[in-house]
Amino acid sequence: MMIFIVFAALLSFVHTASASTGVTVMLSESMLGDGEVHGRVRVYFSKIKPEYADSKGPMYENGDEQDTNQVFGFDARFSSSSLSSELPEEAYGYPLARFADLNDLPAQSYNVQVELARFKEVHREGLPPTFLPDSCVSKDGSNGAYEKPDGTIYSKPVVWQFGTPLSLTLTEVIPDSTPSSRGCAGLGDGVDSAWIKTVRIQSSALSKFYKNSTDPTLEACVLLPYGFDDHPDAKYPLVLANGHYNPTFNPGGQFIETKPDCNDPDDYACVSAWYGYYLYTNWTASSSTPLENARVLVVTINHPTSFFDDSYAVDSEAMGPYGTAIMTELIPEVERRYRGLGEGWARGLMGGSTGGWESAAHMILYPDMFSYSLAACPDSVTFSRHTSVNMYEQDNAYYYNSDFKKTPTPGYRDGYSGQSIDYVFPAGDIISTFREMNLRELALGENGLSCGQCDAWEAVWSPVDEATGYAKRAYDKETGIIDKDVVEYWKKFDLARVLVDNWDELKDHVAGKLHFAAGGSDSFYLNNGVYDFQQLLEKSVGKDHGVTFTYGAHDGLGMQHCFRGYEYDADGKVLPNSITRLTYVQDVIPKMVESWVANAPVNADMR
Ligand SMILES: *[C@@H]1O[C@H](CO)[C@@H](O)[C@H](O)[C@H]1NC(C)=O
Ligand SMILES: *[C@@H]1O[C@H](CO)[C@@H](O)[C@H](O)[C@H]1NC(C)=O
Repeated sequence: MMIFIVFAALLSFVHTASASTGVTVMLSESMLGDGEVHGRVRVYFSKIKPEYADSKGPMYENGDEQDTNQVFGFDARFSSSSLSSELPEEAYGYPLARFADLNDLPAQSYNVQVELARFKEVHREGLPPTFLPDSCVSKDGSNGAYEKPDGTIYSKPVVWQFGTPLSLTLTEVIPDSTPSSRGCAGLGDGVDSAWIKTVRIQSSALSKFYKNSTDPTLEACVLLPYGFDDHPDAKYPLVLANGHYNPTFNPGGQFIETKPDCNDPDDYACVSAWYGYYLYTNWTASSSTPLENARVLVVTINHPTSFFDDSYAVDSEAMGPYGTAIMTELIPEVERRYRGLGEGWARGLMGGSTGGWESAAHMILYPDMFSYSLAACPDSVTFSRHTSVNMYEQDNAYYYNSDFKKTPTPGYRDGYSGQSIDYVFPAGDIISTFREMNLRELALGENGLSCGQCDAWEAVWSPVDEATGYAKRAYDKETGIIDKDVVEYWKKFDLARVLVDNWDELKDHVAGKLHFAAGGSDSFYLNNGVYDFQQLLEKSVGKDHGVTFTYGAHDGLGMQHCFRGYEYDADGKVLPNSITRLTYVQDVIPKMVESWVANAPVNADMR
């Protein structure tokens, strides 16, 4: 009761403090449920587009950094006595920073739509109760930045004439998508096939950390090896294929058991379906397949949090003990159910981007658990180049150091090449600066709660402010000024430094077994961290370190995100990323198995 009174006082303060924007957001009473609705209100503006006549308006087009629709955001709480809220003048906006800046736009009509991303009260060990997003994913979808989380409330898109009052009503809700989820095997939520199994556990480490205030379920999708039932006494190695949230088993390419009925080499969905089918036929062939001697369990895992679609699978102050939960609870349970060997010499890692960072981090931070890793186009593996930013040397993350110049640090160039059938031209065209990517997140969510990429990195690597419960910022989200104390804390996740600092213990573990790949023109500048990793390693321990680094190019031109290593077509031409991202299993796992066999301990069970 007391909390409620305090909050009501706060709300009226906010109201009187802000001048008027004339934009009112109302919650339909039918959305109220049994109490309050609290969350982030985001008001989207775009030019009029005919396709917005349907219910999918501008809020759906704002998923990616390159998008330039206008958005304003503010936190709000609705209750039966307070069903409307006004967009405050000081609300953060992107690309235009304040509502008053809209005066710079042509006085014409716009499509407008509002969404409310819901918050829940979360209790974490040693931290004050904090409101965090309910979720950053749709259970049926993938990365929450692209698919709206279940429970998101929104309005239908409306046409608004510039200069007139604007009133928006939150009347729609995205329902629980679990019933429509494709599930690990693509057959429905929790429905297994002969090959693909679902493993779900309630993590006790997460229940304890979150004091039961959030769902502690971890999910693994497990592909069983060929011959699993015919060899009931055999035990199998395990490959953890790290990557973003995905309800369906997708270790880098799908596993599709029926022949696709399409035949269009220019349609990426069709090409990808064929590779999914090739993976199935290769996997289930007794011979004449690259997987003939690679009978292993392949596992993908789902561990979304209130900060991102993925926890980064390590122990962090803000997100909690996900590394511990995955290493000591989830993987052992998969191995118990499906006859894993359960030993570090017979486990491997692969993945790209977020999954690339996880694959490097697991190899270095959990050396007893794994003995082979392909870390492709990984997120920052050292912070001397966190994308384009030197977190150790720069004063400001948004501009290079300079007395008089203010040159912005870039964030995203050329475009993502993972779904364009051919190469993307690496002209170096800047789509977003690092500052722009961050300011957009600030509009989507303050205090690091946007579910966006830069906020997610801070939630993994930063300490938590014990007064607020939010991750401390390594750089001010508005100004870019770097906090060196927070960056000092980041060093425990600077994978190059951890490796170099523990070289004597780790050198045999990584030599010949830790592999990096990155495109020479990675779209998010993630190749920079890989270069610096290599340089630090060579400066510290010499060139004879045994870690491999592959930088992707074709015809002398750098490859984009997410290069994972070279593969060639029948004419010897380098395959584009859009194809090689579909062949991780066939190409990487046989190499992993060779390495395991060559390095197996003397008494290992090799049957
Ligand atoms: C969480 O819930 C479980 C089962 O309901 C209970 O045994 C446990 O004590 C709870 N833990 C905390 C920290 O509240
Ligand atoms: C394995 O996959 C390749 C495509 O990568 C395909 O050409 C080949 O026919 C497959 N082999 C088997 C035995 O399924």
